[in-house]
Formats: sequence, C-alpha cells, structure tokens
Amino acid sequence: MKNIKTLLLLLLLSVSTASVFCFSGPLTDDQVIYIRRRQLLYYRDEFGDRGENVSVDASLVFENPRLRNAYVALQAWKQAILSDPQNLTVDWVGSAVCDYTGVFCAPAPDNSSERTVAGIDLNHGDIAGYLPEELGLLEDLALFHINSNRFCGTVPKKFRHLKILFELDLSNNRFAGKFPYVVLKLPKLRFLDLRFNEFEGGVPKELFDKDLDAVFINHNRFVFELPDNFGNSPVSVIVLGNNRFHGCLPASIGNMSDTLNEIIMMNNGLRSCVPEEIGLLNQVTVFDVSFNQLMGPLPESISGMVSLEQLNVAHNFLSGSIPESICRLPRLENFTYSDNFFTGEPPVCLNLEAFDDRRNCLPARPVQRSDKQCKTFGSKRIHCTHSPPPPMPSPPSPPPCIEPPPPPPPPCIEPPPPPPPPCIENSPPPPPIIYLPPPPPPPVIYSSPPPPPIYSSPPPPVDHPSPPPLSPPPPIIYNSPPPPAPVYEGPLPPVIGVSYTSPPPPPIY
Ligand SMILES: *[C@@H]1O[C@H](CO)[C@@H](O)[C@H](O)[C@H]1NC(C)=O
Ligand SMILES: *[C@@H]1O[C@H](CO)[C@@H](O)[C@H](O)[C@H]1NC(C)=O
Ligand SMILES: *[C@@H]1O[C@H](CO)[C@@H](O)[C@H](O)[C@H]1NC(C)=O
Ligand SMILES: *[C@@H]1O[C@H](CO)[C@@H](O)[C@H](O)[C@H]1NC(C)=O
Ligand SMILES: *[C@@H]1O[C@H](CO)[C@@H](O)[C@H](O)[C@H]1NC(C)=O
Repeated sequence: MKNIKTLLLLLLLSVSTASVFCFSGPLTDDQVIYIRRRQLLYYRDEFGDRGENVSVDASLVFENPRLRNAYVALQAWKQAILSDPQNLTVDWVGSAVCDYTGVFCAPAPDNSSERTVAGIDLNHGDIAGYLPEELGLLEDLALFHINSNRFCGTVPKKFRHLKILFELDLSNNRFAGKFPYVVLKLPKLRFLDLRFNEFEGGVPKELFDKDLDAVFINHNRFVFELPDNFGNSPVSVIVLGNNRFHGCLPASIGNMSDTLNEIIMMNNGLRSCVPEEIGLLNQVTVFDVSFNQLMGPLPESISGMVSLEQLNVAHNFLSGSIPESICRLPRLENFTYSDNFFTGEPPVCLNLEAFDDRRNCLPARPVQRSDKQCKTFGSKRIHCTHSPPPPMPSPPSPPPCIEPPPPPPPPCIEPPPPPPPPCIENSPPPPPIIYLPPPPPPPVIYSSPPPPPIYSSPPPPVDHPSPPPLSPPPPIIYNSPPPPAPVYEGPLPPVIGVSYTSPPPPPIY
C-alpha cells in the first residue's frame, strides 16, 4: 500500500515535472537526473494516523543525514503547530536546522565530526499544537524542554527512539491521556517533568524503579495508590502533589534516605498513619504531606530528619502531642501543622521562625477547634493499619483539548513547484543544484548536566549549607565548553516553589 502511494506520488511528480518542460516523448538523460533529484523523500508514520507528510526537497543540502532527519522531524512539528504567537518557529525554514530558534546542535556523541540536534528549548513559547511521531527521528536529543506552551494530545510513542534523552520537560501544557509509558523506555532519562497537565489514570510502579533524579508529576489527574516499591526510587526531588493518590504513605519511603532531598505529596487523599521510617530521611529539607487524610500521632522518629527546613503536615487528621524533638530540629524554619487535632504542643515550637498551629485542639492557644469537635474526634479510635480508601469519585470528563483538530492542509506538503523555466522545446536542464559547503561549525552547545535541584524556599536560609551533590554526573559526556543553552529554567507554575534552578538562560527570543 505504502509503495503504491509512493509510486503514485512519483508518477504524479514526474508528470508534472515533464509538463513544466512542455515536454512530450521520452525523457532526456538530463531530465531523468533532474526528476531523480527532485524525488521526495517521504517519512511515513507506521501508524498512519499521526505522521505529517514532510517532503525533503532534493535541492536542500544537509551537512549529514542526522540533520536531514532533524529537518523532517522539525518540519513535521511545524506542521503540527496551530498557533505560534511569538513567531518562534517562523525561522524553521531550510536546511540549516541548527540555526532554528530553540534548536541546539552539538557534535554527535558517537561521531564528533558530525553535528546533530542535541537540545530543543521552546520553554514559555505559548505555542499550541501537538507533538508528531516524527520527533522520534531526533535520536541524539539530550534535552527536550517545552514547558509553558499549549501542546495537547499525547506523547508520541516514537519518543522511545530518544535513547540518550536526559531531561524531558513537558510541564504546563495540555497533554492528556494515560501516563506516557514511553518515558520508562528512555535509558538515560534523569529529569522528568510532567506537572501541570491533564494526564489521568494510574502511574506505573516501574517509575519508582527507574534511575531518575527528579520527578514532577504534580497537578495532573492521576489516581493511584503509592506502591511498595516507592522507596526504591533514587530521586532527590519528587513532587506528586495535587493528584488523586490515595492509600498509605508507604514505609519503604525510609529506603530513600541516601538520595531524597525534597518530597511533596500534598493534596492527594493519602490515608494512613505517618510511618516511623520517615525519620530515616536525614537529607530531606522539604517534607510536605499537607491536605491528606493522615492520622495518628507524628512519630518521635522525625527527630532524625536533621536537614529538615520546611515541614508541612497541615490539613490532616493528626492527633496527640507534637514531639518536642521535632521543634528542636536544627534547621527547621517553618513548621505548619494547622487544621489537625493535636492536643499537645511543647513551648519550644512557639519559638520557631515560622509555625502555624491554628485549628487544632491545643489548650490556651488562639484560633482552635471547638470543644465539641475535639471531643467527637477524640472519642474515635484511630486505625493505623491500611483501611480501604473511600470510593474515589470518578475523574471529571476529559478536557476539551485531547486531540487537536487536523491542521488545515498546509501548502508545504506539496513540493514547491520548480522554477518555471521558459517553455521552450529542448529547454536546458534546470539550474544545477548548488552545493553549499557546510557552514563552519558554530560554538558547541551541548548542555551540561542539570544542576542538582534546589528547593527555593521562600526566604533564603540564613546558614544554609550548599546541598551536597545529589546524583552522580550524568553519563552523557560531550567534550564541549559549557553551553549557553538550553537550560531548565525553573518552575513555571507558581504554586509550588520547587525548581531545577540553573543560571538564567541566554536571551534566545
Ligand atoms: C499524508 O499523505 C497520505 C497520502 O499520501 C494521506 O492519506 C494522509 O492523509 C496525509 N496525512 C496528512 C496528515 O496530511
Ligand atoms: C508574528 O508575526 C505576525 C505576522 O508577521 C505579526 O503580526 C506579529 O506581530 C508577530 N508577533 C510577534 C510577537 O513578533
Ligand atoms: C563520522 O562522520 C563523518 C562526516 O560525516 C563521516 O565521514 C564518517 O564516516 C563518520 N564516522 C563514523 C565512524 O561513522
Ligand atoms: C528497603 O529495601 C530493602 C531491600 O533493599 C527491603 O528489604 C526493605 O523491605 C525495604 N524497606 C522498606 C521499609 O520497605
Ligand atoms: C510556611 O509554610 C507554609 C506552608 O508551606 C506557608 O504557607 C507559609 O507562607 C510559610 N511561612 C513562611 C514565613 O515562610
């Protein structure tokens, strides 16, 4: 079928080419060569439904086949863009793909004399569209950053070809559907940012066995019970907040002590006691389990969390007395435990830089719950063992933007007509294709590994030691000077102050 289509296209093409020459009768050798040169190299998607039809005009000269593939990928993407208000992709024209806005090239990892596309950074582009399967042609991609755009649809399955992809930032877009399983197949992936999208359904437990350094999946519609292998995850930062997780806070979390630096699980419907094992997390600086249904007392073991700066357990059903050792943690700056049922509070807690103890059952403290509420709660028995979670409400209907409307038939699907030659019989062959020597190699811009994630806590800590290196240097090493770009530029969404901090990116648009 495909072959037939290709044949048809070629036939059509040769007919139209011939007609341009006003030619009848057999083709001359020159014309055959000309037609062959103009043959279109089609990339076809094996699924048929997602591929754009990109043609590569034979007059385009590419430095190497990788950049030709990149051209196909980027042109397909351009066709899949419905709105680009900042005109970022307007210069995505021609064979010099390394000069396209937001596209960064570097010597190929397996052949330093060939340039290849190493990074894409269209952060904050406000672009609407979707990701075509052809992006899987960008096989040397290390960074793919498209945060704060309006991309919708799903993540292409062909992303599995991105075997050295290191950072994937799809945050703050309109992606929907199931968790993008393809990310589990990316062997080099360390930084995964899916936050602020419309993903729904479960989260595969394999995610927590994967060698990731940072995982942001907050603000989606995931419905999920944290699996027992949660504690296998070697992440330094994990943000799960604002989904519909439920079930227990797993005790295996204690196994994350070697690497874990920040964990945010707020607003998820977690329903269990707080496991003793969290006390093992001695490098954690930020621990936020607010807005869940955690119950029972805060374990004394939290005194082992010696690096803790921000502790937020607000809006749960916690009770009992707050262990004094928590408020004596050496680095604790902000302890928020409002909206629980605590009945005891050591005075030392009131000396913390910032604390919130409102709406508890604390005697002689302002803004507490009514006696009635406190008595009713106190008479209930706490079942710390895993109780079956209440039936979850079914997720709301999916967002309107699941699949983009088909793009209007763009003129660029058709090959540009050859320059109309004078219609003379036996016209000379068309102007020869000029071979442009490859441009001199521009400065190399493979990105260096991302910096260790740092929680940007509201006021800069007074004597905050710089965090230890949290993860081994990434395996992708390109002998190149430090890059001007692309860099992850920090958290877009203002709600949670977690970010991959990095030097400010160069002004690229
Ligand atoms: C691509 O071309 C094929 C036939 O050549 C056509 O059936 C298909 O609809 C085209 N796809 C797009 C997205 O234009
Ligand atoms: C983008 O291009 C269009 C058409 O040329 C122009 O009207 C618009 O002002 C441009 N927008 C920006 C942000 O440059
Ligand atoms: C590396 O790239 C150069 C330039 O394209 C090519 O001539 C050479 O064969 C490539 N080497 C390998 C090992 O592929
Ligand atoms: C921690 O991991 C070990 C195996 O590495 C496992 O035996 C143990 O059960 C885990 N601890 C918890 C609390 O899950
Ligand atoms: C302390 O943390 C809470 C919860 O994260 C936050 O709302 C509050 O603004 C923080 N207070 C200070 C002084 O940083």
